[in-house]
Amino acid sequence: MGAGVPAAQSNRPVVPGPVFASYFHLAGEPAGPYQYGRDSNPTWTILEDALSALESGGDGGVETVVFASGMAAASAVLLSQVRSGDVVVLPSDCYYNVRGLHERLRGYGVETRFAPTAGDGQLDVLDGARLLWIESPSNPGLDVCDIRRLAEAAHAAGALVAVDNTLATPLGQRPLELGADFSVSSDTKALTGHGDVLLGHVSSRDPGLAESIRAWRKTVGAIPGPMEAWLAYRSLATLHLRLDRQAANALALVAALVARDDASGVRHPGWADDPAYPVASRQMRRHGCVVGFTLPDQGHAERFLDGLRLVKQATSFGGVRSSAERRGRWGGDAVAPGFIRFSVGVEDPEDLIADVTQALERAAHDS
Ligand SMILES: Cc1ncc(COP(=O)(O)O)c(C=O)c1O
Repeated sequence: MGAGVPAAQSNRPVVPGPVFASYFHLAGEPAGPYQYGRDSNPTWTILEDALSALESGGDGGVETVVFASGMAAASAVLLSQVRSGDVVVLPSDCYYNVRGLHERLRGYGVETRFAPTAGDGQLDVLDGARLLWIESPSNPGLDVCDIRRLAEAAHAAGALVAVDNTLATPLGQRPLELGADFSVSSDTKALTGHGDVLLGHVSSRDPGLAESIRAWRKTVGAIPGPMEAWLAYRSLATLHLRLDRQAANALALVAALVARDDASGVRHPGWADDPAYPVASRQMRRHGCVVGFTLPDQGHAERFLDGLRLVKQATSFGGVRSSAERRGRWGGDAVAPGFIRFSVGVEDPEDLIADVTQALERAAHDS
C-alpha cells in the first residue's frame, strides 16, 4: 500500500498527477534527472520507485525500468543482453510471442534452445548458455519450475537469469529474491488489472544491468506514455486486494470445475491437488488468477464461451472482470482444442460460479 507514496509536503497533492512533457527546461550543460521525454519522466519515476519497492520486498536496492508493453520489456532483456554466438535457453511453453523472439535471435547469430517449464526441464540444456529465460507459472499451461534451483544452476554455468513474472506479479512472487538477475513483467495483466493499459517493466538488483536496460529503452524508444504510467501507479494501491479476491475466486472456480465430469485437466498453481502446487507453494505468496481446464472438444468449448453472460470472451488475463477464451484459437500453444484459459476477476463468487455453471450446463445440453 505504501510503495511509491511520496513524502507528505504541505499543499502538494497526496497522489501526484501525470506529468505530460516531451522536454524540460534545460539551460547550459545537461544536468538533473529530467531533460528529454524519451529518457525520463517524473511519472515513470514514481511508478518505477513503487515497482522497485514491491520487487525488493521493501529492502531496497532494486532498480526498475518501465516500458510501453510487456513485449517491449521482454525484448529489451532478450535483445540487449546477448551477442552473436551466445546461447539463450527459453521455455518451450512460455507466452508464444516471447518464444517467437527466437527467430530474431537466430537471425542475429544467437543459438536458442527450448525445454519445458515442468520438472525444471531447462536444467538439462544450460551448458554454455549466456541467458536463461524462465516463465513461472507458465502461460497458458500453468506449469511451475523451481526458480531458485534453476537460477543457481544457470549462474554456475555463467548465464544470466530472467524471470517473466507476469502471472504472479511481485506481490505473488519475487524473482530477484529467488536469485534472478531480471524480473520482467507484462503489467498489462494483473499488475494494472483494469484492462485499460498496455505496460511492462524490468527490475534488477544489479545497477549495471539496470543501466543497460535503461539505455536500450532510450535507444529503441519503447517508452510508456505518462497517462499509462500514471494509471498503473494508481492501480498499485489496490493490487493486494485484487490479487487476494482473484485467488479466492480462482479456488472457488476450481472447486466447481472438479466436481463435474465435463471439465478435465483443471489447473491452478494455488490448488492443493495441482501438480505444480508443491513448488508453487514454496516460492509464491499468491498464486494468480488464471485457471486452465479442458472441455471435451472445440464445439463444446465454443458453446460454453457463447453461453457465458457475466464472464466476457476476451484474450489477456488479470483484469478485475472475469474473461475466458479457447486458447487454441491463436494456434501458438500446444493445447487441446477444448482448452479454456479462464482469467478470474473480483466478482461476487456466487455470481461467477452461477454463470460458469449455467454456461457449462447449456454447453453439455446442446451437444
Ligand atoms: C507471460 C506474458 N509475458 C509477456 C506478455 C506480453 O505482454 P504485452 O501484451 O503487455 O506486450 C504476455 C501477454 O500476454 C504474457 O502473457
